[in-house]
Amino acid sequence: MLLSKPDYEEMIAQSRDKRMEWWREARFGMFIHFGLYSQLGRHEWAMACENIPVDEYEKLADSFKPKEGCCREWAALAKKAGCKYMVLTTRHHEGFSLWDSKVNPFNSVNYGPHRDIVKEFVDACREFGLKIGFYSSLMDWHHPDGGICEFDTEARARFTKYIRDLNEELLTQYGKIDILWYDVAAPMESWEGWDSLERNQFLRSLQPDIIINNRSRLDEDFGTPEGSIKPMDRDWEACMTFNDLSWGYVDEDQVAPYSYTPQRIVKMIQTCSERGGNLLLNVGPKPDGSLPSDVIAPLEKVGEWLSVNGEAVYGKLEKTNGHQFQPNGVSRPTTKGNTVYMWNQIWHPVDGKIGIGGFLTEPKNICFMDGTHIEFEKKGDRIILSGLPEKNPDSILGYPLIKIEFDTFPEYRFGSYLPQLNSGRMREIK
Ligand code: GLC
Repeated sequence: MLLSKPDYEEMIAQSRDKRMEWWREARFGMFIHFGLYSQLGRHEWAMACENIPVDEYEKLADSFKPKEGCCREWAALAKKAGCKYMVLTTRHHEGFSLWDSKVNPFNSVNYGPHRDIVKEFVDACREFGLKIGFYSSLMDWHHPDGGICEFDTEARARFTKYIRDLNEELLTQYGKIDILWYDVAAPMESWEGWDSLERNQFLRSLQPDIIINNRSRLDEDFGTPEGSIKPMDRDWEACMTFNDLSWGYVDEDQVAPYSYTPQRIVKMIQTCSERGGNLLLNVGPKPDGSLPSDVIAPLEKVGEWLSVNGEAVYGKLEKTNGHQFQPNGVSRPTTKGNTVYMWNQIWHPVDGKIGIGGFLTEPKNICFMDGTHIEFEKKGDRIILSGLPEKNPDSILGYPLIKIEFDTFPEYRFGSYLPQLNSGRMREIK
């Protein structure tokens, strides 16, 4: 029985906390953009941007030869980087399915590798204990109805059935799938135009625990800010591509100057941790499925850092909602229960001391993440840390965290003796 939109939204809202508990604690995922476009090495939109005719573009299917084991390489790096889930482009806008599809003959079993890449991806995720996400483009540049469906009623009916059938295959052929990640609901611009209400109810009946993003013209379970870490007043996941240039592979020698440093990635993770979101960081493998050289070392470093500091990232964190503690201009905090983690991008003790402003509550204990105690004295609205090493205590990334434990969730007042900062407002943590 098809639920009305309000009843559907009520139904999924009731199950959301249970379905999303793992997701809300996961914080960090790896996005993989892999397809025929990877061979072109100049963006996953090359077909559209260069007006490559379909019959010319189709030839890429025969030369598409991902090496054996490439999915396992991706999953191994994701695990080492501290990711908790992965999302793979099962079919991008080019319309080529990376799975054994009876609905779409233009696929990686009938062409190129003659392998089911999605199955290899799923097996690799399970081997490394990673949750599994399927990216599924609505827009399609290959299917004959993909463009005319906006104006042709019969074409729209055929095409939305095609989209439903594709996703039914994905959610019935590979066991439990955790995330359905829609993208680009074009040309139709409404959920009605995409039949998303019916399709998503059907797909949820196949995978009741699945989490669905907001890109099928329905809000569903989480928002997807792209290209910057833009917190939302709902569950949200910022998707970023490793070089801010292309989601699909581009020549790593040319792109290396734009690639993220591990510090930049940790900074993005910090904002997500502070503001109740996730980071989905994209890697665009080479034509043969190999990992591009510019992503490996930074991601391994991030994973090494998270192995020491993950307590401040994973699990149930409170959103500081912008009323963040502002212990120092260059330190930002995350909070978990009655503990505040100060993320210090700059290590700046003077005579072994660092002053922290604003906390009205006496800390119980202050230490580094390895438990090494830090001496402190509370003086009014200031906490003075002392005995700190001149040398940056974080040898991995130079991004040390300080853990401040309280018996209760701390009261905080920013710049308490500077009324002009508060203009009578108490920037207290609610
Ligand atoms: C944009 C791009 C698409 C990419 C997506 C990732 O929608 O058009 O190519 O897959 O971002 O979020």
